[in-house]
Amino acid sequence: MTNQYFVAVIGAGPAGLFGARELANQGARVVVFNRDIKPGGLAEYGIYPSKHTMKNGLRKQFRQVLDIPNLEYFGNVTIGEQGDLTLDDLRSLGFQSILVTAGAQGTKWLGLPGEDQVGVYHAKDVVYYYNQLPPYTQKPFRFGKRCAVIGAGNVMIDIAHFLIRDAKVEEVIAIVRRGPAEVKFDKKEMEYVIANLDQTALDAEIQRVTPIMQAVNQDPVTARASIVEALPKGLTKVSDTKFRFEFLASPVQMFGDANGNLTEVEIEDNILVEKNGDTKAKGTGNKRRLAVETIVFAIGDKVDESFGLPVEWNEFVKSENPRYPVEGNSFETPFEDVFVGGWSRKASSGLVGYARKDGTNASKAVWQYLRQTKQPAEANVDAVLEKLRGLGKPIVMKEDVKKLESAETAEAQKRGLEAFKFDSNEDMLQAMGFMETA
Ligand SMILES: Cc1cc2nc3c(=O)[nH]c(=O)nc-3n(C[C@H](O)[C@H](O)[C@H](O)COP(=O)(O)OP(=O)(O)OC[C@H]3O[C@@H](n4cnc5c(N)ncnc54)[C@H](O)[C@@H]3O)c2cc1C
Ligand SMILES: NC(=O)c1ccc[n+]([C@@H]2O[C@H](COP(=O)([O-])OP(=O)(O)OC[C@H]3O[C@@H](n4cnc5c(N)ncnc54)[C@H](OP(=O)(O)O)[C@@H]3O)[C@@H](O)[C@H]2O)c1
Repeated sequence: MTNQYFVAVIGAGPAGLFGARELANQGARVVVFNRDIKPGGLAEYGIYPSKHTMKNGLRKQFRQVLDIPNLEYFGNVTIGEQGDLTLDDLRSLGFQSILVTAGAQGTKWLGLPGEDQVGVYHAKDVVYYYNQLPPYTQKPFRFGKRCAVIGAGNVMIDIAHFLIRDAKVEEVIAIVRRGPAEVKFDKKEMEYVIANLDQTALDAEIQRVTPIMQAVNQDPVTARASIVEALPKGLTKVSDTKFRFEFLASPVQMFGDANGNLTEVEIEDNILVEKNGDTKAKGTGNKRRLAVETIVFAIGDKVDESFGLPVEWNEFVKSENPRYPVEGNSFETPFEDVFVGGWSRKASSGLVGYARKDGTNASKAVWQYLRQTKQPAEANVDAVLEKLRGLGKPIVMKEDVKKLESAETAEAQKRGLEAFKFDSNEDMLQAMGFMETA
């Protein structure tokens, strides 16, 4: 066995897979551990299911990464303090560095009264549900006639997309803490839902908030034009859902009926205050209630606090004086052998392209660390596999992923669908042949 640098990559989203490729191409022996059976992370389980071309293009690239000979894939394995293996277990197995690209799996609860009502959800859970990630697929969700979505980013649009075009609810209200000039979604994404936008309601809402915008020198006309810019290319309506905005409003509490089902959300009106060249929302104290049966918080996520790395401000703590900065960024945690990349470095930030670049840059930092502080050693993948087998659960490897993909393609063809996904771990494992031997 030739000596090689031995690196563990935690998470097989875009950051992990492209990061792993970078390290493998440098000559390291790389093992990717992934919580999910399938690779892809949010590219598989976040990007809207109907974006077939994008998803298939990414899957093809991920397959090429998994085909790299000095790279192993172990899916259905969670790393972390409460996981199947801890960071110390990985060190004991001989890994010389650990790159954490586990995304942002924590939930940013705001601590509002009534958050526990049935019908109150965080976007990630809903997104995982409609993208068929077990166990979210099996969880009950209550999408009522009137649904509120908190936030004004692309995730808000994705949730609205689902509620308007798939769940076909009666009304979707986007509750936005700042104003029409601060929405963050892209015009391209707005095309999916703009046919359902209630333009009369939009005009009334913009008129209502005009004095507040003008007080901070914003132009309501420009802001309106930018929101409706997608109109000419908007998709044809498939439901009668009314989609409207409630600007300059923050949720303060939720109310439910005797069975704990959400019935109302109380919102507080905001004004805008200028701060360091940007604006901030400031509550006015004026509160009102909206009747809704569902509320989805699309306000971004935070990293998993139970993972075993220190967390501050929703993110893993990074060294402020990195030894191996790449493009001015620090990928280093307080543990000298542990690095972070992608959404584990900067939670809920950027597109797949960003995660890909960030994972690659994180690997460049890892590589510098290895070259400067370690000697190539015996990279004992068999010992890792033996340890994993001892967990007594199915360990999904490269060949298994291929079997699963073939089975899903065959199923899609049989059913005349563009894509098909098994929506439980049991079905996926069966398709890969695990159940026969279990
Ligand atoms: C709803 C939504 C829609 C999006 N749509 C688009 C789009 O249309 N186009 C676009 O370009 N970008 C889109 N994005 C952004 C894109 O998905 C992200 O930029 C990208 O996926 C982040 O990559 P990542 O590898 O850092 O994290 P993730 O993609 O989240 O991958 C994390 C991986 O880590 C694994 N993992 C988690 N915890 C552990 C653990 N403890 N142990 C082992 N493995 C673990 C997970 O199973 C997962 O495979 C979307 C994001 C969201 C939320
Ligand atoms: N189709 C796509 O291309 C696609 C789809 C989904 C996601 N993505 C990408 O994934 C990343 C994450 O998307 P995202 O939508 O989660 O994040 P985002 O773009 O940062 O939007 C988050 C929204 O939540 C609001 N918010 C944050 N905290 C809040 C709070 N406490 N109370 C009320 N509102 C709050 C923000 O308002 P403020 O502006 O006031 O902070 C903002 O409007 C982005 O880079 C996005 O582009 C892309």
